[in-house]
Amino acid sequence: MKVIITENYEEMSKKAAEVVIDVVKKNPNAVLGFATGTSPIGLYQNMIKDHKENGTSYKNVFTVNLDEYVGLKADHDQSYAYFMRTNLFDHIDVDQKNTNLPIGSAPCLKSECDRYNALLDSHPQDVQVLGIGSNGHIGFNEPNTPFDSVTHLVDLTENTIKDNSRLFNSIDEVPRQALSMGIKNIMQAKSIVMVASGKNKAEAVRGMVKGEITPALPASVLQLHPFVTVVCDKDAASLL
Ligand code: F6R
Repeated sequence: MKVIITENYEEMSKKAAEVVIDVVKKNPNAVLGFATGTSPIGLYQNMIKDHKENGTSYKNVFTVNLDEYVGLKADHDQSYAYFMRTNLFDHIDVDQKNTNLPIGSAPCLKSECDRYNALLDSHPQDVQVLGIGSNGHIGFNEPNTPFDSVTHLVDLTENTIKDNSRLFNSIDEVPRQALSMGIKNIMQAKSIVMVASGKNKAEAVRGMVKGEITPALPASVLQLHPFVTVVCDKDAASLL
């Protein structure tokens, strides 16, 4: 695991974007795995800037996202589909037909998980972007999710509901469930770039980098992956 410690969020975002842009430059047909949340927004802004200034093209990439809230349609402004369009896809030349997220409003969630697993099996990620939850989750794989899990329905923990409520009008509006890639789907990526920022991530980052490899801290599984780059700011790295 390569760990890059940066001065601040801006530098973290720039360094992490370089990793993704490099993959696309080497392989214009790359499969890109994306995450939502606050951590990768700056990374996406750097990709957009690079696309506009240097012309890096996403015309032929295929994208897969980690997760989606259950019950929210793609046009809901708190859905992850909406997040990806507004924070990235609408600003680069990706073919939106090639962008994929689990569908949280699907009539049968079990069939939707099966569909998404088949999609991931046939499109292994060349690079997977990850953030980390303050409890060490990756995707919505909460503590004690088995390492061999694939896309599944998740009951979000109180901790995650509370963390995510900052983006909703009230905590009552936060969906209680999500569909998430499993840990096995994440680990199949050829390379992984994790962004972590802020003091509230420091304990989870310490466990991920230096702690025991245990489902109690899902991100610790990344120690078993051969090509992981963790880019974190000083605050997130403060316990390393
Ligand atoms: C988002 C995701 C989550 C977030 C994590 C950190 O697609 O899968 O694991 O990466 O909850 O979220 P932020 O970046 O908002 O602190």
